[in-house]
Amino acid sequence: MTAHIIDGQALAMQLRSRVAGHVARLKEKHGLTPGLAVVLVGDDPASELYVRNKRRQTIEAGMTSVEHKLPTETSQADLLALIEQLNCNPEIHGILVQLPLPKHLNANLVIDAIDPAKDVDGFHISNVGLLGTGQDAMVPCTPLGCLMLLRGHLGDLAGLEAVIVGRSNIVGKPMAQLLLNESCTVTIAHSRTRDLATICRRADILVAAVGRPEMIPGDWIKAGATVIDVGINRIVRGGKRQLAGDVDFSSAAGIAGAITPVPGGVGPMTIACLLANTVTACCRSHALPPPDGLTL
Ligand code: GUN
Repeated sequence: MTAHIIDGQALAMQLRSRVAGHVARLKEKHGLTPGLAVVLVGDDPASELYVRNKRRQTIEAGMTSVEHKLPTETSQADLLALIEQLNCNPEIHGILVQLPLPKHLNANLVIDAIDPAKDVDGFHISNVGLLGTGQDAMVPCTPLGCLMLLRGHLGDLAGLEAVIVGRSNIVGKPMAQLLLNESCTVTIAHSRTRDLATICRRADILVAAVGRPEMIPGDWIKAGATVIDVGINRIVRGGKRQLAGDVDFSSAAGIAGAITPVPGGVGPMTIACLLANTVTACCRSHALPPPDGLTL
């Protein structure tokens, strides 16, 4: 079998164009421009690249982009003061603090200082609790993007066996909640899981989010399974720098029914979902109905 390649780039482009349409209507009908503030502390090159891409796509969608670049040695108090200022700014509808933060900063305290209504990352404990109890929440962008890809390819997911490899707060845990809400049978596996290969082999849906290049070989995949590869790992192969997922694409593509490539799979969906969440937050803050096709 040769797997169908799930084109995240194309789906993300469709979503971004829906977002841009909603932004144009919000401006025209209500005089509103959704605004996203991104806070970056320090100079991690990968984070700087992500933030640049977010800014460019926010502006392309017609929204306001505000960037706060702070030095590595920024204090917790100064960062919290900036968040409070953004919480109170009516022109800002979404706030994202790029993670990871430098070690001296407490990420949990920082995230929980964000107004949950502006928490477009869906990391605030209120949003985590809402998602966990099946209520309307801001949904974390990467798992939301994965779910959109899965629904686009498989339609109804009810009853399917889903295995998520990785238990992070950013991807693994919210992905499990989303798939439970879709009535999948969900297993979360992680670095201490025994016999990971056997557990992966029972998955109809396999989500790999461990951050270890090509850790999952093709023979851990059930024939015909749908594989979502969240990993974006920088590797050197044959003397060349390139990106690799958490799944060994070349062996997996011969066995899976469908697979997301790296790059061009989950990555573009994450930013498109961030833009969608910002528009949703803007609508909610003005008591407007949530726009079609941007939320679950
Ligand atoms: N770092 C890696 N992924 C993410 C994300 O989705 N949101 C934030 N804020 N930081 C990240």
